Amino acid sequence: MKTQVAIIGAGPAGLMLAHLLHLAGIESVIIEARSRGYVEGRIRAGVLEQGTVDLLSATGVGERMRREGLLHQGIEIGFAGKRHRIDMQQLTGQAVMVYGQHEVVKDLIEARLHEGGEIVFEAGSVSIVGFDGASPLVRYEADGMKREIHCDYIAGCDGFHGVCRPSVPANALTIYERDYPFGWLGVLADAAPSQDELVYMNHTNGFALFSMRSPTVTRLYLQCDPSEDIAHWSDDRIWGELLCRFKCSDGWQPNVGRITQKSITPMRSFVTEPMQFGRLFLAGDAAHIVPPTGAKGMNLAIADVRVLARALVDFYIGGSTARLEHYSQICLRRIWKAQRFSWWMTSMLHQFPDANPFDRRRQIADLDYVTSSLIAARSLAENYVGLPMDEPDQWNG
Ligand code: APR
Ligand code: PHB
Repeated sequence: MKTQVAIIGAGPAGLMLAHLLHLAGIESVIIEARSRGYVEGRIRAGVLEQGTVDLLSATGVGERMRREGLLHQGIEIGFAGKRHRIDMQQLTGQAVMVYGQHEVVKDLIEARLHEGGEIVFEAGSVSIVGFDGASPLVRYEADGMKREIHCDYIAGCDGFHGVCRPSVPANALTIYERDYPFGWLGVLADAAPSQDELVYMNHTNGFALFSMRSPTVTRLYLQCDPSEDIAHWSDDRIWGELLCRFKCSDGWQPNVGRITQKSITPMRSFVTEPMQFGRLFLAGDAAHIVPPTGAKGMNLAIADVRVLARALVDFYIGGSTARLEHYSQICLRRIWKAQRFSWWMTSMLHQFPDANPFDRRRQIADLDYVTSSLIAARSLAENYVGLPMDEPDQWNG
């Protein structure tokens, strides 16, 4: 088989890239290791920045999101038993949309298949070769047969544990990373959200987050030890800890309901530089990871492929490789600001096991400042709704 762009991975990055390329008349094939049912059911984060919402809408895949997504004009930051509202709409003129990542994935898969696009699900033994020269090749197995795709470019959209990043010679990449001494225990509960907006809560027992997926489903997270065994967290223990951490002086608390899903995710910050090697371009989690506190993961994936799609359009339609050559540079400038924001939100809201009394006082001052200064709140809001996606248009020609 032959195509113009071979895309590895059918997460938000790979699917959105295929969609954007299709709109520009560029051919692609997506190779995905998992089944369609698996990727459509995988519960992940769920906050879309304004720019992500706008891009989904502008490219014709935002219809269900606009109908079923929950528009959020503010968030709450809680500490010392009190919640404080950050009015993002008033501070920035923008908002975010709460809509599960797997719903975005479903919408993109449906659009892709409807347009006649090709997605190979359950591909085995995926490998990539030849991307340091002019003839990249993707090898995989399907239906017990070995297959090959010849292409001009490979987009590595296969997440943090994929094959693309490890296929680049190690000495060609610099990795910047930080592990955090905690993880998030996330649950989905059949309970009506007890209020309309998210609550990021700093508590002496650890961070807790109140979020939602629909008018009948609440999404909640608890800071926990990253090596914790989920089997040690009974539903009663989870609710006990959630109600304790969210306890507020005004009596607000989440509604309790049946827990339908629970899992523990470690937290890390991770950046690969550069995000390209020869004819391979890394995008999304394959190139960078943020701790989820800033709600940036999926949005960064979408921002990367927006740049990559434009660069490929410049090449195929405009005959220029300038933007492809600057792909890493364009993406990394924005990625590092999202890394900074995600690290800062994480540092401000979690309990660090090695924190001393000075660190704890300084953390409370950070929370007090951001919830009492309009200027500080505006900075938080600007980052939360998403920094501008558009890069200065200097890569043409
Ligand atoms: N071959 C083919 N596909 C693979 C391989 C492989 N060897 N390894 C992984 N994949 C697939 C995964 O099954 C997954 O469907 O690549 C896809 C990567 O998707 P995501 O992990 O969702 O990554 P991305 O599209 O970059 O989206 C980033 O996902 O983890 C969240 O917080 C993150 O919200 C962010 C988003
Ligand atoms: C979620 O709803 O899953 C969610 C919301 C906000 C975050 C992270 C996750 O910062």
